[in-house]
Amino acid sequence: MKNEQYIMSIDEGTTSVRAMIFNHEGNVVSKAQKEITQHFPHSGWVEHDAEEIWDAVQTVISESLIQSKIPPYKVRGIGITNQRETTVMWDRVTGEPIHNAIVWQSKQTSHIANDLKESGYTDLIHQKTGLVIDSYFSATKIKWLLDNVPGARDKANSGDLLFGTIDTWILWKLTGGHVHATDVSNASRTMLYNIHDLNWDEEILNILDIPKEILPEVKSSSEIYGYTAGYTFYGVQIPISGIAGDQQAALFGQLCLEPGSIKNTYGTGSFIVMNTGDKPVISDNGLLTTIAYGINGEINYALEGSVFVAGSAIQWLRDGLRLINDAKETEALALASSNDHDVYVVPAFTGLGAPYWDQDSRGAIFGLTRGTSKEDLVKATLDSLAFQTKDVVNTMVEDTQLDLKHLKVDGGAAQNNYLMQFQADILNTSIERSYIAETTALGAAYLSGLAVGFWRDIAEIKQLKPNQSLFNPEMSEDDRHKYYQGWQLAVKSTQMFHP
Ligand code: G3P
Repeated sequence: MKNEQYIMSIDEGTTSVRAMIFNHEGNVVSKAQKEITQHFPHSGWVEHDAEEIWDAVQTVISESLIQSKIPPYKVRGIGITNQRETTVMWDRVTGEPIHNAIVWQSKQTSHIANDLKESGYTDLIHQKTGLVIDSYFSATKIKWLLDNVPGARDKANSGDLLFGTIDTWILWKLTGGHVHATDVSNASRTMLYNIHDLNWDEEILNILDIPKEILPEVKSSSEIYGYTAGYTFYGVQIPISGIAGDQQAALFGQLCLEPGSIKNTYGTGSFIVMNTGDKPVISDNGLLTTIAYGINGEINYALEGSVFVAGSAIQWLRDGLRLINDAKETEALALASSNDHDVYVVPAFTGLGAPYWDQDSRGAIFGLTRGTSKEDLVKATLDSLAFQTKDVVNTMVEDTQLDLKHLKVDGGAAQNNYLMQFQADILNTSIERSYIAETTALGAAYLSGLAVGFWRDIAEIKQLKPNQSLFNPEMSEDDRHKYYQGWQLAVKSTQMFHP
């Protein structure tokens, strides 16, 4: 259509950067992707080159526009969504990063996190930030950079050093160095942001000796932060008008906007996020309390639980056991199994997360007989994704006392119909699979489009109501109970074996 306009999302994930262009119906009309190099300078450390990320952002912006022949001026707004927590610091004057970005997975600051725990700050940090002390979050990474990069503290003291999560870095670059800001969802992952009074927390900053001056201004998730500058968008000034961390953006893209609505993104691990409305719920069971998004002057909170091993269990079937050549084969294999869920795979390859929190457990397989087949093992591995999701969802329901309405799903393994049916059965709730795999980018597009009037309001977005695949529970209560009991027994037995 001649006068059609569009929203562009930039989705900077852990392994790649993507640009996606959406039309008014919420459909993807163009996308481009570029991988990001993973740097492992020491065992357990993971770093990215922030300049490479910025180059990749520029490349995918160009490619998505060129492929679709959409002239840049037809883009009404840009949304940014990003791998969260990953920490970059750069010189305000030269714009040069002072070090590689430290990635969320990196363990190089574990000792700082341990020191904080040993000094008795666990409760204080949990109450203020909703998070458990861990090197996962940005705070210890910032401290490490300040303490270990020569000249970093001096630069910070002279006001020439800036910190950002990746959204902030991209925003700063897109605006030609004019805007140093982030949104509440990303701020809530730094372990420095007070999620109750919505400010950088002076007490935590003092404990970690982090100067407030290096931190970005915190804004809502849907507003105009600034405009593309000069060369960054073919000389056209486009508003950057939506920002959210990737898991929160997926929550928004799935329109999980009511308290109690939950999404699960089945990636390498699974990120399960529940909207808890305008009040933070502090979990007694090790789930994270986080800010989902801020829009129209209101803050929505969420509970988050992650399953460490989800898609990576399927990779293990492929690369470790060599039972399959492609993840796509697993659906037919599981359906061909005649085993009545008597085999259990507990993929605790790196320990068990919520609600067990046992980092020393290792994986196990139970219920093997002489007749156990490859099909049975594949089925049991898929089942483990559903059981682990149920563990986290049950904990969320318990912590919030909110009713589970349905589960919205996206990500690679969500395409597996066997798994989705079993997930619906074992949770006893309906599963809605999004029509679009890129719910993360869609969420950022919605946030951006709402801020510039591309979409009038959330009601209009809900009307777009795209096609979803629905899976309804069909399992008897007795079977559900029996299978889940079997899983819990398998987990318990796994925990008894700490090699
Ligand atoms: O918290 C980390 C998360 O945001 C990373 O997501 O999709 O880049 O692996 P992803």
